[in-house]
Amino acid sequence: MNQQHTAKSSRAVAVEILLGTMDEGKSLTVLMDQWLEAIPDNEKAFVSALCYGAVRWYTRLNGCLGQLLSKPLKPKDRDLHMLLVCGLYQLGYMQKPTHAVINETVNICRELNKDWATKLVNGVLRNYLRRKQELSDWADQRLTTKYGFPGWLVKSLTQAYPDSVDKVLDSLNQQAPMTLRVNQMQQSREEYAQQLSEGGIASTPTQLAPQGLTLATPCDVHQLPGFFDSGLCSVQDEAAQLAAILLDLKPGQRVLDACSAPGGKTAAILEQCPELASVTAVDLEADRQQRTRETLSRLHLEAKVVVADTGDLSAWWDNQPFDRILLDAPCSATGVIRRHPDIKHLRRQSDIAQLSTIQFRLLSTLWKTLAPGGRILYATCSILPQENTHIIERFIRETPDARSLPLVLDGSHDAPAGQIQLLPEPRGHDGFFYALLEKTTG
Ligand SMILES: C[S@@+](CC[C@H](N)C(=O)[O-])C[C@H]1O[C@@H](n2cnc3c(N)ncnc32)[C@H](O)[C@@H]1O
Repeated sequence: MNQQHTAKSSRAVAVEILLGTMDEGKSLTVLMDQWLEAIPDNEKAFVSALCYGAVRWYTRLNGCLGQLLSKPLKPKDRDLHMLLVCGLYQLGYMQKPTHAVINETVNICRELNKDWATKLVNGVLRNYLRRKQELSDWADQRLTTKYGFPGWLVKSLTQAYPDSVDKVLDSLNQQAPMTLRVNQMQQSREEYAQQLSEGGIASTPTQLAPQGLTLATPCDVHQLPGFFDSGLCSVQDEAAQLAAILLDLKPGQRVLDACSAPGGKTAAILEQCPELASVTAVDLEADRQQRTRETLSRLHLEAKVVVADTGDLSAWWDNQPFDRILLDAPCSATGVIRRHPDIKHLRRQSDIAQLSTIQFRLLSTLWKTLAPGGRILYATCSILPQENTHIIERFIRETPDARSLPLVLDGSHDAPAGQIQLLPEPRGHDGFFYALLEKTTG
């Protein structure tokens, strides 16, 4: 934290964070971490809710702001623009007294050394309150402003889900629950739910994942019994928990987790089948692999953790084939937008074609490391067919010794038989895709 950080009020910090995400393309999570110390403890939750909310609804708020301003603000006044977006979010979505929101937002003009703008900011916010219903009706006329999504993503999702696009967009704006994976090497899910309940934490069993518990209210991991000292549970979305189950692991198998960091699924694999011959966890990012090591150490689990490009076999493979491979491929993360609303703005349409090239390349390369009769589980947290069904269909077409194995789960959506496309469920799992391929022996 530097001097500049310490001097700012919480709302001015929010302006900085919005500028960083919307104009400089920085991750909201990273910015929140960087600015955290600058925010007084009693305002941290407010600033976080304000930043996440304003980014989630930016396209809608920005559209409304365009209706309220007689002409756009100059590029040098992007800070005022973000201040107004923050003001509109507070007036439209937060339960705060309106006069306090207006006064405090106007005061930030002075902190930004833009006293001249106090009248403008005051006028825009008051006008918003007067015209709230009219502006809301205006924004609801287009899916982009109705749900706060960029045009290219609305178009892609409309193509993918023509009959349910409203539901999909709406689900991507909902608050995601906090879900735990109970460490079955230590306790049953029922036993851990009982421990949580004794600590005043209410939970319900997940529908699809046998080790999952969804908390009634998210909490700090420090409050979870045995999280740090005994590794009794991990935080992991229900859809992500399914990877270790769908892999159909057997004792004695050699397993590769091909894009492993920060290690959530590596740990789930080891908990699911402790008698595996070996688990190799490869990831490109050294920092993220450090988190894999920490996760495994917290849970008292062991794997061979490697930092390398999975697609460069000479860098890491010992030529011993694997019986099971998880390829949790780098993707658009469109299935987890509700947790990371900045994805709406940080992703570009051109990323999708680039990502699908990488996904296909990784799948094709890893196929060489799979033993005959072995299986590879292809997974993404994307809900775009270009990264999912299209990859698998092309791979099956071009690979004579690959066959798709049926995967069936209740609640999957619009994917060909054998593949699973999960869409985000309110109070349930994230959006996720799975396909299981087997290398034929004949
Ligand atoms: C979806 S995340 C993996 C999440 C992880 N499986 C888990 O459950 O915790 C995708 C990962 O792929 C990694 N990655 C991207 N390209 C890679 C490559 N060529 N080789 C290895 N890892 C790669 C990224 O660093 C990122 O950690």
